[in-house]
Amino acid sequence: MRIVLGVGGGIAAYKSALLLRLFTEGGHDVTVVPTDAALRFVGAPTWEALSGRPVQTDVWSNVTDVPHVRIGQEADLVVVAPATADLLAKAAHGLAGDLLTNVLLTARCPVVLAPAMHTEMWEHAATRVNVATLRERGVTVVEPDSGRLTGADTGPGRLPEPEAIHAAAMAVVEGAAGERPRDLAGRRILISTGGTREPLDPVRYLGNRSSGKQGLALAEAAVARGASVTLVAANLELPVAPGIDVVPVQTALELQREIDARTTEHDVVVMVAAVADFRPAEYTDSKIKKTHDPADPDAAPTIRLVRNPDILAGVVAARGGASAPLVVGFAAETGDATGSVLELGRAKLERKGCDLLVVNEVGVDKTFGADETSVHVLTRGSDEVIDLGPGSKAVVSHGIWDVVVGSLPTD
Ligand code: CTP
Repeated sequence: MRIVLGVGGGIAAYKSALLLRLFTEGGHDVTVVPTDAALRFVGAPTWEALSGRPVQTDVWSNVTDVPHVRIGQEADLVVVAPATADLLAKAAHGLAGDLLTNVLLTARCPVVLAPAMHTEMWEHAATRVNVATLRERGVTVVEPDSGRLTGADTGPGRLPEPEAIHAAAMAVVEGAAGERPRDLAGRRILISTGGTREPLDPVRYLGNRSSGKQGLALAEAAVARGASVTLVAANLELPVAPGIDVVPVQTALELQREIDARTTEHDVVVMVAAVADFRPAEYTDSKIKKTHDPADPDAAPTIRLVRNPDILAGVVAARGGASAPLVVGFAAETGDATGSVLELGRAKLERKGCDLLVVNEVGVDKTFGADETSVHVLTRGSDEVIDLGPGSKAVVSHGIWDVVVGSLPTD
């Protein structure tokens, strides 16, 4: 594979020398395109020696080869590490003042950007918008690590380790290369994702940490295989690709209403959302004050909770003995004194009555940010366990659809 390794002007440029090594040891042909600023951190001889190729930063050398167009056109993969805030901005706006930004404009292959910068820059509204724009266009912008930065400060903005960037880049190529079968064409798929929030008063809620990435990846993978997808999204803060019908919700009761209203018109229902099992029994119209009890100013309030409905079990009950829709549940398990992850998963599958249960072993995955996962797929009425991953959520999603396709009735 012909890989272009872009290197931006950040101190983490030294880590890209190791990334380059990983690519060349994989047998790939790597052209390094640093920016001028990158060469202040790591010089051209390092890149030339490790890649076995000359490097240039501008568009004025070797002009007879038209490198500013050719390098991008001929690449099978472009990876930029570190991608500085400045480079992200230039890429988002299509600026092309040097060789690397020209490559980014001319490349038609998968592009992976690995940002590295100080937390303030990463969290700045300008950078957030640039990252969202790039992602909407199909560029993979990997999440930076959180940890020690250049100085004594810590926070999100660290360049991920070279092995992690290498794995992310390979997963993107794998996902893009696999011509997906259109085996979900004509199928209507309903997916819930995200995490519900149960309001306590106008400013507070009970929530959970679910990002919604897995449900989103499943939705994108299903669309790629020809399905029409409705995504009931609980507090999802991620951009959703065009072609997916999104129904935003906040609470478990709203999620239940939107799922129940659509179940019968779908062939498959996948409950990925982390649904709060409990909600506050009372909602207070105004903010609960610290001194909420005039009789005892130091008292802390007691919040009474009530059970939320089990939406998944409700979907199964509503279809009665019918085989449609096919119902897929998710379960994050750690294992405990009462059983292993798989034993708890098997018991949950029987309890919920769904057709498939995707069990995520929490806490043991080798994760890359939150983008990498590994799961076990259990089928009701069978002892078989299908292991998927570790891999990107996109790759694992396709593995899940492979299982679903095998379980769907053929018409
Ligand atoms: N689920 C649901 N309604 C709920 C809780 C969970 O539909 N009130 C769904 C989830 O979307 C998921 C599956 O049920 O597909 C398993 O969720 P999980 O939280 O693991 O199940 P619980 O029944 O809450 O089990 P636990 O005792 O482990 O909390």
